[in-house]
Amino acid sequence: MVLNSLPCVLVSLCLFFFSSSLCKARIYTNHWAVRIAGGPEQADHIANKHGYRNLGQIGDLKDYYHFFHSRTIKRSTLFSRAAHSFISMEPKVEWVQQQVVKRRTKRDYKPSYPGPVQSSMVQSSSIYFNDAKWSSMWYIHCNDNIHNCQSDMNIVGAWKRGYTGKDVVVTILDDGIERNHPDLIQNYDNEASYDVNGNDMDPMPRYDASNENKHGTRCAGEVAASANNSHCTVGIAYNAKIGGVRMLDGDVTDMVEAKSLSLHPQHIDIYSASWGPDDDGKTVDGPASLARQAFENGIRQGRKGRGSIFVWASGNGGRSRDHCSCDGYTNSIYTISISSTAESGRKPWYLEECASTLTTTYSSGENYDRKIITTDLRQRCTDSHTGTSASAPMAAGIIALALEANPFLTWRDVQHIIVKTSRAGHLSAPDWKTNAAGYNVSHLYGFGLMDAEAMVKEAERWKQVPPQHICVENADKQIRTIRPEHVVRSVYKATGCTDNANHHVIYLEHVVVRITITHPRRGDLSINLTSPSGTKSQLLANRLFDHSMEGFKNWEFMTTHCWGEKAAGDWILEIHDSPSQLRSQKAPGKLKEWSLILYGTSVHPYSFRSDKPRSLAEPQPDDEYSEEYVGLCHPECENGCEGPGPQQCITCLHYFLKFKNNTRMCVPECPTGFFRDDKKRCKKCSPLCESCIGSRSDQCSTCRSGLFLVEGGNNCASSCPDGFYLDLDSTMCWKCTENCKKCTSANICTECQTGLRGISVS
Ligand SMILES: *[C@@H]1O[C@H](CO)[C@@H](O)[C@H](O)[C@H]1NC(C)=O
Ligand SMILES: *[C@@H]1O[C@H](CO)[C@@H](O)[C@H](O)[C@H]1NC(C)=O
Ligand SMILES: *[C@@H]1O[C@H](CO)[C@@H](O)[C@H](O)[C@H]1NC(C)=O
Repeated sequence: MVLNSLPCVLVSLCLFFFSSSLCKARIYTNHWAVRIAGGPEQADHIANKHGYRNLGQIGDLKDYYHFFHSRTIKRSTLFSRAAHSFISMEPKVEWVQQQVVKRRTKRDYKPSYPGPVQSSMVQSSSIYFNDAKWSSMWYIHCNDNIHNCQSDMNIVGAWKRGYTGKDVVVTILDDGIERNHPDLIQNYDNEASYDVNGNDMDPMPRYDASNENKHGTRCAGEVAASANNSHCTVGIAYNAKIGGVRMLDGDVTDMVEAKSLSLHPQHIDIYSASWGPDDDGKTVDGPASLARQAFENGIRQGRKGRGSIFVWASGNGGRSRDHCSCDGYTNSIYTISISSTAESGRKPWYLEECASTLTTTYSSGENYDRKIITTDLRQRCTDSHTGTSASAPMAAGIIALALEANPFLTWRDVQHIIVKTSRAGHLSAPDWKTNAAGYNVSHLYGFGLMDAEAMVKEAERWKQVPPQHICVENADKQIRTIRPEHVVRSVYKATGCTDNANHHVIYLEHVVVRITITHPRRGDLSINLTSPSGTKSQLLANRLFDHSMEGFKNWEFMTTHCWGEKAAGDWILEIHDSPSQLRSQKAPGKLKEWSLILYGTSVHPYSFRSDKPRSLAEPQPDDEYSEEYVGLCHPECENGCEGPGPQQCITCLHYFLKFKNNTRMCVPECPTGFFRDDKKRCKKCSPLCESCIGSRSDQCSTCRSGLFLVEGGNNCASSCPDGFYLDLDSTMCWKCTENCKKCTSANICTECQTGLRGISVS
């Protein structure tokens, strides 16, 4: 036993787990998070009174302050009881927590030998940049003549549509950013940057001989390295603004994470994180209370209420047979969890499987595979960036392109667009399956490889999805014994909260299983969830190295695999215990309770029903129970349909027509009496017009019978006004000759403008 044994004796809880050899002592810091109502003066006052320094509000979290106590030992395994209890007795102090060190690791790895340096002088694709490494950036121009990977992320396609990330702000939460790097300096954004470790504004990395702190700079270049500046590399969103938060080069605490995740949420659009709990195949850890609040604050308030976009690397624990469902960051519904695939479409050795992964971008694979080219520390350039660390920033760059195409997308719109546009392509996985909504999904890759061009096209014409409903179904409180080599099966008949309009979910987005299990060896457990449509998500696989006896306490497993499916029906939870020889304790485990949290909408996310009055938004009985429609769609439909008619399209190819009874229909052209607006809608002309260019009575292009269009304008009149005459066919009012007030249908002036006299010409 090499682990610290002294703290184990002191911490009784730890002693309990001593035999499991997993005795991790908590390390307390001299930093506190304190919640105090009444403003910063109040906080300063309380800090001074108790000998703390108030270092200010914690990120964007109102009423939370960072207190520092210089007389407490910096890293202690002992909880500072004295100071803590005095301050917690203050009536204005609502909550206080001494910060403990959390183990957080970067999602890269050290290759066993340097990656191959491939450089090609051949000019590729139709876009040419003078950056030295441009021609070798295979993951950007993937299926051109010299690179032959089979699925392209279509980044050049998005660029050609004019999207390069302009006005979108991305920040990298990591070990700092070399802001004066020649490829970053032009897009560097001071307001998107901070040094949480040093508590100042400057996120420059700390330099050492091993270049330990190169990670953030490498991630930043992938997103927003300047293009065509004769330097090294080209970012995916090369006109986006890029910042960095230095937060991994020091003790990471809940507060450090919260400060980083809630930095300037009205300014920063996308936060990219390529780190998390140890990928050692035995850790179960996630965001603690402040970080969770930072996520929620960002989702609800960030980007003017549209929600911050948190992009997360799914993890590199493949070799330790880790499962990303045990990482509460990637497993969160608020993060977009990104997996990696090699150029060949094969599974990289570091890849972690789990059901919460949403999508995939390229990264390195085997040692002989090409890696990622990006900016490096000391103003250099590297072609050996690797792991899911490289994939998350790539996704952040692609999302930046979509946000430029439509800055109004909400955090859920972005996830919907990713689900719709990611493609299985040539990515090989043994478990590709088509869910009941028609999406192909895998535990290795989520919905597949990202497609930047398809994303910006969707973004351009996207209509915001209806509000998120959350339905909590308390499935089972009956305690069940988990017998070795047996499967515990628990079936829950969900309604989707049909009796509560504010929580009613018909169409699913994320699904979470919250579960409490006691077990003698956690790594022996595997868990599956099957949706009412029959889609099976593996929520947990056996983990060879996880000897923990702690089980799961209200752990939330998330799956994206039921996206678009119906929520109501039988959900089946299956827990399997396959005892390994490593198991010392023989007592069986217990399923104590589980609940199902269904996220989604009560109306179809892509129908136009969302702006119907509330009563009409209620589901039709046959709607709820009918199967997904699989037949042919009407030719005017785009993006599928719910039935064969032109009234049942998800979206329209050309125009859509709305009727009084709230039905809608797709049409190739707007009928007479309607005009097309800029959102592809056919809208009614003014009652005076027969056809029109807008809805006002002065926007007619032809008039209803009995009315006449007036020359030079678009209004219809029942009789021609002064200065106009009705032609012989009675079709239109034409202008009389100049200075004429009245004229005949042959345009002969019969009365002059006031003050003028007629001259008879014969
Ligand atoms: C990059 O700069 C070169 C000149 O150095 C120019 O010929 C080329 O068109 C530029 N590329 C783009 C995409 O603007
Ligand atoms: C899903 O995969 C199946 C089988 O490979 C394929 O036929 C189908 O076109 C895919 N669906 C989508 C939406 O990509
Ligand atoms: C879960 O599903 C996988 C894949 O179908 C299967 O191999 C495994 O045995 C299942 N485990 C349980 C607990 O049913």
